[in-house]
Amino acid sequence: MNEHITLEAIARLEDAPDARFKAVMTSVVKHLHEMVREVEPTMAEWEQAIRFLTEVGHWSDDKRQEFIILSDTLGITMLVDAISNQKPEGATETTVLGPFFVEDAKSLPYGANISESGDGEATLVTGSVSGLDGEPLSNARLDVWQAGPDGFYDVQQPNKFPNGNLRGVFHTDEAGRFAFCTVKPAPYPVPTDGPVGRMLLAAGRHAWRPAHLHFIITADGYQRVTTHLFVSGSEYLDGDVVQAVKASLIVDFTQCDDPDESTRFNLPIPYFKLDHQFVLAPEI
Ligand code: BEZ
Ligand code: FE
Repeated sequence: MNEHITLEAIARLEDAPDARFKAVMTSVVKHLHEMVREVEPTMAEWEQAIRFLTEVGHWSDDKRQEFIILSDTLGITMLVDAISNQKPEGATETTVLGPFFVEDAKSLPYGANISESGDGEATLVTGSVSGLDGEPLSNARLDVWQAGPDGFYDVQQPNKFPNGNLRGVFHTDEAGRFAFCTVKPAPYPVPTDGPVGRMLLAAGRHAWRPAHLHFIITADGYQRVTTHLFVSGSEYLDGDVVQAVKASLIVDFTQCDDPDESTRFNLPIPYFKLDHQFVLAPEI
């Protein structure tokens, strides 16, 4: 029934010059038509769907990307990740980017503290970046960002943190090593004050993410890795609202009281420490 409408919509893509565009749009038309056949929305319901997507657009700008939050909370981002980001055995796994990455955060030296306010539990993050055969990657770039202990990113509090907070860019040394100081991340909810928040509420879903640090790691000749490190034992590891947890990305933050390290990195005792080895696959 009504098949001719779908067939005609698909036929109108016949002359699209770009083959990939044609394939993607044909699939979009096919699946949306199928969805309409299954759901049988009234015109009022369809208009409501259009208003929702319009609102998602209006909420999106360079500081707040509601479309990313929509894609993430519907599991679509992790499905794209699973299909398009397959890495060889031993390489660090990827996960969602999220909406709070900032291009061109400030570059900081080895060991610098990314916490402007110092609020939270002092933490030392150390580690290395290597290739699959263990070759150390010097001058690899690590973009690092996280929410504060109150659950907000600096870009959500521009008046409090006009110069940024809890983010920075580090480069590995000759031995492929990096270090920085921060505060231990805490669980937080994705922003719920927009249309996606209403969608979660209507679905009877919570909005929480387990405690994590974000990383993007790049090195010449190697595949970029967009990932998180999750705090072992954190609440919501089992129910992340964006389904982004992978077992290999759950790491221990160990309580430490080494006086030499505390002096070297200007940290109070006790502090937490995380040491992690990132492994990049070669560019194909
Ligand atoms: C985040 O981790 O920053 C995030 C990821 C997905 C949606 C919202 C926030
Ligand atoms: Fe996050």
